[in-house]
Amino acid sequence: MKPLHLAALAAVSVFAISACSGDQDAQTPETETAAAVFADVTDERLDNAEATPQEWLGYGFDREETRHSPLIGITAENVADLGVAWTYDLATNRGVESTPIVVDGTMYVTSAWSIVYALDAKTGEELWVYDPDVDRAVGVNACCDVVNRGVAVYDGKLYLGVIDGRVEALDAKTGELVWSTITVDQSKPYTITGAPRVVDGKVLIGNGGAELGVRGYLNALDADTGDLIWRFYTVPNADKQPDGAASDGAFEQVGNVTWGDTGAWKTDGGGGTVWDSIIYDDVNDTVIFGVGNGSPWNQRLRDPSGLDNLFLSSIVAVDADSGEYKWHFQTTPGDNWDYTATQTLIIATLPLGADGADRRVVMQAPKNGFFYVLDAATGEFIQGNNYVPTNWATGLSDEGRPIEVPEARYADIPYLQTPGPLGGHNWHPMAYNPDVGLAYIPAQEIPQAYGTDPRFQDESSKWNTGADFAAGVPQLIPSEDNKFLRTSFKGRLNACDPVANEARWTVEHEGPWNGGVLSTAGGVIFQGKLNGEFVAYDAGTGERLWAQDVKSGAASGPGTFEIDGEQYVTITTGWGSAYLLSAGGVAAPQPVQPTVGKVVTFKLGATGTIPDVDVQLVETTPKADEFGTEAQLANGLVQYARNCTVCHGPFAVSSGVLPDLRWSAYTSSADAWKGVVVDGNLQSIGMVSFADVLSEDDVESIRAYVVQQAHNTDGIDDAIASEGGTP
Ligand code: HEC
Repeated sequence: MKPLHLAALAAVSVFAISACSGDQDAQTPETETAAAVFADVTDERLDNAEATPQEWLGYGFDREETRHSPLIGITAENVADLGVAWTYDLATNRGVESTPIVVDGTMYVTSAWSIVYALDAKTGEELWVYDPDVDRAVGVNACCDVVNRGVAVYDGKLYLGVIDGRVEALDAKTGELVWSTITVDQSKPYTITGAPRVVDGKVLIGNGGAELGVRGYLNALDADTGDLIWRFYTVPNADKQPDGAASDGAFEQVGNVTWGDTGAWKTDGGGGTVWDSIIYDDVNDTVIFGVGNGSPWNQRLRDPSGLDNLFLSSIVAVDADSGEYKWHFQTTPGDNWDYTATQTLIIATLPLGADGADRRVVMQAPKNGFFYVLDAATGEFIQGNNYVPTNWATGLSDEGRPIEVPEARYADIPYLQTPGPLGGHNWHPMAYNPDVGLAYIPAQEIPQAYGTDPRFQDESSKWNTGADFAAGVPQLIPSEDNKFLRTSFKGRLNACDPVANEARWTVEHEGPWNGGVLSTAGGVIFQGKLNGEFVAYDAGTGERLWAQDVKSGAASGPGTFEIDGEQYVTITTGWGSAYLLSAGGVAAPQPVQPTVGKVVTFKLGATGTIPDVDVQLVETTPKADEFGTEAQLANGLVQYARNCTVCHGPFAVSSGVLPDLRWSAYTSSADAWKGVVVDGNLQSIGMVSFADVLSEDDVESIRAYVVQQAHNTDGIDDAIASEGGTP
């Protein structure tokens, strides 16, 4: 076994956190006719969203994507009276990440497999459902489950990004398809999970797939026809030649010189997918978007030159009409760790100009653990600080460049690093409350060892990062005396003051992967949690004011709206993303909370209930008998970590989204196991064949290892309970 820089993780604590079919069980169904107007949304309405807080018009509420609603019906004093107004069953146990749009009395919400639901926002009554009928085999391209974060509304239509790369316009009244455009090369592993944004007749949408080898870009499509208006690539093509795209000038000016002439980027596309945050700065008529990680992750393999590799892990600003480059800020030069800068972008006006004058800024807390405040007009770095412990960089230079620790540029010797590839903050939306001047970051600590993958090949690997997921795994094996997992995986809600450049308060959660944040002028903020609680906190102090068990993990961004003078708060439940740990990362035989896709909507004084979960969550198959030599078990551990972890969970502990293999009936039969893993018998539901990467012995070794993990749970839960921990 190669040495691992465990000491580096111990050093983490040195860095203090210094910075920053509706269930109408509640009400008698309404008999009034639903709204006569559907998605009558103009640019003017979008530009002035804060003037109509009874609606939730865009993914992040307003153009600035603050997720701060001016509604004041719900306050710290009365929030305890919140109750369930209605729930709607999204009929899925796959990930749900959608923020509902509410406009003209109708709610539009998406679910797994890019299915759209239109509901009466007051009652939850279903108006229509649109299913884009995605071929289930494309699920294998989705790094983080077949999720969707929501639609955009504009001029009577809805705009939807479909997981297979289509972008579609629907009639907001009927759900009928108006146009459908394929925006990716569908022979490559592109996916779309993000919400489109619409600006001046253009639908803005990127895509994902940088774990599997693609080249990222942002598209602007004609909102009426779906035709491409402009495209901005985020990395050069293999020959560094013009594409005939809006980004050509940017590569000529600043991009091409940051790439070497060799490396896997030339065949893998380089990465840089624009999979989440896109905002419109109406003052500067600029589209600002976040760019993802390199492909493959490992820079030594991607581009041995070690140059910065623009625009990976960058925030990029372009002209809204032409898509032409305006400025960029790179959060992680020469990305090596999956440190995307796709996380929530928020625009605010803060007293950060000369002598405390107002300055329009952009804020982001990307995966790399640092919180940035930039000038919105120029991209100039104003200030920044770490919002979680970071052991890969000791701080930021005056220009905002991370000061790296040399070991973090791992090679043969793995480096145990925090944040890991899941980031100090992932897609879970951040919010900003201008009344109290705080940005709320759903933050987390999920360390991971990175090492160069000795069997990296450009083509044949399914999950092609060049970083070895088996590196350092033995140190992470859950056992009675290994408290590493139980003490290192954390989640918290950080309230950062972007002017003082420091944390004001922090709420500690039971584990990582908690939900997005909603801020309200009533002085209350809301967040869903991994453990199934939906919680209200005091916006200024973080004091816990109220909580409701929503009977499923709740990871998405909550929203709020008002109808007939009553304020509603709403959240979609379902974890979102297959790859995550049970709280504490322990080998509990079932997830902390099941993932059950629902819309749950609250208002003051309501008394509804949330239906009990009646799905069979964990197969109660008896454990198969243990088998396998020591060598097989050791090989199984490594092969599992490399090939199966990303979907079925570390150590065969599933998050609950995909089957927990420890309890799978397939474990008891070598033939049945081979049928799935080698012959691809479950291909149609997204479990592809691994025949091209695993030998027969590898496949059997993985089975032996998985069965061993099932037996490993004996006694562990008791051990945790006796420590007073939460499994
Ligand atoms: C890209 C994601 C992905 C990866 C990687 C992956 N699987 Fe799967 N697996 C799935 C999906 C999706 C299903 C079917 C889920 C369902 O039942 O709806 C599945 C189902 C299975 C099942 C059937 C479980 C049951 O009881 O129904 C087995 C066995 C399995 N996978 C083994 C493996 C092994 C072994 C590996 C690693 C060699 C692996 N999988 C890697 C996505 C993945």
